[in-house]
Amino acid sequence: MQTHKSLPSHTTQWATLMSRSHKPSKISAVAAPVRPALKHQNKIHSMPPEKIEIFKSLDGWATDQILPLLKPIDQCWQPASFLPDPALPFSEFTDQVCELRERTASLPDEYFVVLVGDMITEDALPTYQTMINTLDGVRDETGASQSAWAKWTRAWTAEENRHGDLLRTYLYLSGRVDMLMVERTVQHLISSGMVSINLFILVLNF
Ligand SMILES: [Fe+2]
Repeated sequence: MQTHKSLPSHTTQWATLMSRSHKPSKISAVAAPVRPALKHQNKIHSMPPEKIEIFKSLDGWATDQILPLLKPIDQCWQPASFLPDPALPFSEFTDQVCELRERTASLPDEYFVVLVGDMITEDALPTYQTMINTLDGVRDETGASQSAWAKWTRAWTAEENRHGDLLRTYLYLSGRVDMLMVERTVQHLISSGMVSINLFILVLNF
């Protein structure tokens, strides 16, 4: 199963490679090796028809009880709130960038291994949304379905998307990570896809 399990091994590779360098500012992350494409697997239904009906019958309940838990978007933090402000005059913006780089210059390599691992995990959100939409009873049938489950999936994806955006920009500005290699890894990860229906069944208690 080509799933999250691949991430720790990538992270271990980075940790090993980065540990060879004792120069804090040296870029030392490398792209993960290309893995063979996933073998096609037959569609596995996540639940029997009677359970699908239960989830569909709970749509009204989810609309009333679950969707109100979503924080309105204009009350959510956004990545720009934590990053140098490009709308400032150029010198002030570059001062903020310099401050960020000074703060990150002394951070241990291990911090960046973790942050890169987090960023890559977040950047595979298209894969996670795809996986959720393979699940019977809760999938987004149209891409803009008004079912409570579909609304929740889209809102969760949108919320999570901020995390990767923040990490990506922070790492980019730090100059401590080889972004080209990281971005290639993300492209490999998303293009490879993932088969983890059992994981989602476990996580979501379906
Ligand atoms: Fe996240």
